[in-house]
Amino acid sequence: MENNITRRSLLFGFVGASLSTVLPVPMARAMAAGQVTLTAAPTEIGLLGDGFPNTPVWAYGNQVPGPELRYRQGDRLKVLFENRIAQSSTVHWHGLRVPNAMDGVPGMTQPPVPSGGTFDYQFDLPDAGTFWYHPHVKSSEQIGRGLYGALIVEEKSPPAVDRDVTWVLDDWRVDQEGRIDDNFHAMHDLSHGGRLGNLASLNGVNSDSYSVRAGERLRIRLINVANARSFALAFQGHAPQVIALDGQPVEPFLPDEGRVVLGAGQRADLIIDMIGNPGDSFAVMETYYGRSPFQFLSLTYDDQPPLREDVLNTPVRLPANPLAVPDGPASQSQALVISGGAMGGMASASYQGRTRSIGDLAQIGKVWAINGVVADTENRQPQFTFKKGTTQKLVFKNDTAWPHPMHLHGHVLQILSRNGVKVDRETWSDTLFIESGETVESLFVADNPGHWLLHCHVLEHHEAGMATSVRVI
Ligand code: C2O
Ligand code: CU
Repeated sequence: MENNITRRSLLFGFVGASLSTVLPVPMARAMAAGQVTLTAAPTEIGLLGDGFPNTPVWAYGNQVPGPELRYRQGDRLKVLFENRIAQSSTVHWHGLRVPNAMDGVPGMTQPPVPSGGTFDYQFDLPDAGTFWYHPHVKSSEQIGRGLYGALIVEEKSPPAVDRDVTWVLDDWRVDQEGRIDDNFHAMHDLSHGGRLGNLASLNGVNSDSYSVRAGERLRIRLINVANARSFALAFQGHAPQVIALDGQPVEPFLPDEGRVVLGAGQRADLIIDMIGNPGDSFAVMETYYGRSPFQFLSLTYDDQPPLREDVLNTPVRLPANPLAVPDGPASQSQALVISGGAMGGMASASYQGRTRSIGDLAQIGKVWAINGVVADTENRQPQFTFKKGTTQKLVFKNDTAWPHPMHLHGHVLQILSRNGVKVDRETWSDTLFIESGETVESLFVADNPGHWLLHCHVLEHHEAGMATSVRVI
């Protein structure tokens, strides 16, 4: 069942209800300006749709995704986190440049929040964009059970659109009753492509369709929160423009073959004009795993007359965020060689200060290394120390048989080249997707002091050792 995912209609031989355009109501920005309480607790959701059993999950604010936190660039986020699940937890603000103490990494930036405990997160939001939040304790299980939500920081003057919507993409490993498979540490997942699910969801529901109106312009904020799965969405009959990747603006472009590719943890902002006619319906295909494409859902045009005759031609380019500009020529180069995993040929690696054979490591569920070191998740030691304000060149080399979305906390990387070929547009990323065998060069200014994690966002790879950290002093 490796890459086989299916819509419920295929899995259960059934076609269910459609998702209306009315999505979980985002918390109003006005409300977000004050303090928000975010409670993680067990609950149930209708993941499979109407007429099917509910799925027991862990969720923020009793909903999956958790409440959408919406702010304006320059606002201050104030979230009181309340932990009502039976495990300790934290909240990590994925992609945001936060002060180190607010980063949510247990044992590194804060103590884990025990069950019944609280933690007060407060920080300013320098960057506009599409971000998300999730726990950083037993992430494979806690995110896999539904703990995640979107965090949107609006530009001061966003491009004109008719609707600004968020699509949180996930997959789940569930049985026909909608129960989540509770083996989050299967060796096969740890050593192969991570925990891939068998049911896809959009905003917490396995939906068949998404309703749109002819002539409208949408901004769709895609967030891939899956533990391991990559998505490559293709919008039949439409030509989405990508205007931001990982929350950071890019010169608007039409992706190759119309496919928007997102590794686990990544985001993309799209502008898409609804150029069909009332009553039309177009497939949105998931095409990442070539052998098993499937219809993710359909864009269903309602019967209303077109909102406008001609496609809007107002500008869609976003203003840049205030990221420090790397000084390439002055940079120091740091190699990060990723090895291990199934079919990887790694013979041994160092773990807790001792060199061990891959056989011994596999016994304890540790099968990946960065620069020959398997991360000790209980005792994080920085592999790099950078002086504040210096430009660093991180050169990732993926010596494994699997792709890895590598996520750096607290900073944003500028991608320079892939396999020695300079990238053709300026691209910034906090979650850098690196194909099997690929070498990717990136630059960043180490301007945020603290101890920052760098890990694969395939959560099972992280758990099985694919992490390191950098200290900025
Ligand atoms: Cu989205 Cu270290 O995580
Ligand atoms: Cu990985």
